[in-house]
Amino acid sequence: MAASRAAPRDDSKVVSIAAIAHRKITVPFFVPAIGDAEINAVARCMKSGWLTTGALCAQFEREFAANIGPGLTAIAVSSATAGLHLALEALGIGPGDEVIVPTLTFAASAEVVYAVGADVRFVDVDPATLNVTVSAIKAAAGPKTKAVIVVHFAGLPCRLDEIIPFCEDNGIAIVEDCAHCFPGALHGITIGSWPTAAAVFSFYANKSLTTGEGGMIVTHSKSIADRCRMMRLHGIQRAEFNDQDGGRPTWDYDVATPGFKYNLPDIAAAIGIEQLKRAQDLREQRARIAALYSEMLADLPVRIAPQSKTARHGWHLFVVELLRTVTLSRAEVIKLLAEAGVCASMHYRPLHQMSFWRHRYSLRDSEFPAASAYYERCLSLPLFATMTDFQVEYVVEKLSDIVKR
Ligand SMILES: Cc1ncc(COP(=O)(O)O)c(C=O)c1O
Repeated sequence: MAASRAAPRDDSKVVSIAAIAHRKITVPFFVPAIGDAEINAVARCMKSGWLTTGALCAQFEREFAANIGPGLTAIAVSSATAGLHLALEALGIGPGDEVIVPTLTFAASAEVVYAVGADVRFVDVDPATLNVTVSAIKAAAGPKTKAVIVVHFAGLPCRLDEIIPFCEDNGIAIVEDCAHCFPGALHGITIGSWPTAAAVFSFYANKSLTTGEGGMIVTHSKSIADRCRMMRLHGIQRAEFNDQDGGRPTWDYDVATPGFKYNLPDIAAAIGIEQLKRAQDLREQRARIAALYSEMLADLPVRIAPQSKTARHGWHLFVVELLRTVTLSRAEVIKLLAEAGVCASMHYRPLHQMSFWRHRYSLRDSEFPAASAYYERCLSLPLFATMTDFQVEYVVEKLSDIVKR
């Protein structure tokens, strides 16, 4: 199989955690790119005596915001789920309101709507991009619609250039679920810097920038930033409270509204600061692997991951869809790949098929034809920055053997 090659990378400093954990697996699904810099940063933090949210968290927030673009504030949180919850809370969304969410996403994108007491209005995705479109939002929007959560699925940016004008005209706030999309861009504009209410990133263990667990809210809005910052830590207000009455000591504080425990500890921020320095480089490595996959899979009976010339893909996932000519089921393909030492996965069983949502809103597959059809035949192939050409070739060779049966 012909494949373009780039210069070999120096992976010697990367700790292959998955290689240790999965001795029998030739190609794990994901290996976090953790090196000496991250390990030393955590050690320094632990020796400093300050483990929870402090100076390192503040530094990570500043550097992350600067990395996305000018005029932005970043608020570090314990997960993207926490960040999405805080963003909806800060927008004042609650009972009686509706939030549009694409059905093809992870549980978190919809559960946060339930958490604030609002209703989810699920919409189908575009079969070509697997993303939510402005036409789906237009068709679903009604008088109760207060927000839409757009998901940059697998790392491919949604068409924010089309979605933002419609939502602006109709008073619908946009919260971007960027769990899959860092670093990404659309029409040269970085994802996270578009004029939406908030963009929320995930630093979960298998994400392109990881702190083990963690997330970041990025916003242009001072009021959203202030509210998220206060609510991430119990709704505690310190500065304003102390300023009000010169007599109050600095150790005293008020609880302005009961909040949450969603802060990011400095140990995690220490990892994030180091990961951020390498984020573009790691993205280039994933993009190179995605290009290699695309080339090598061209002759197989699979539809390869949607891509776009105008977008810079975050390459969190490399998803493929088995064509109808493949006689084996998706479950059999994943099982046979596992037997050959390749750990594949699946993203996602759409939320309209999850028992809670299906029953709550009496949802049917026929309302979501694209996501339902995609789910039947999709699988996600291993993709991580330190993946070797040999590993890519091995995955393609095994997949080829299986799908041609
Ligand atoms: C699309 C999407 N949104 C949100 C999340 C939640 O991220 P976290 O685990 O950081 O809460 C995930 C996690 O995988 C995700 O895939």
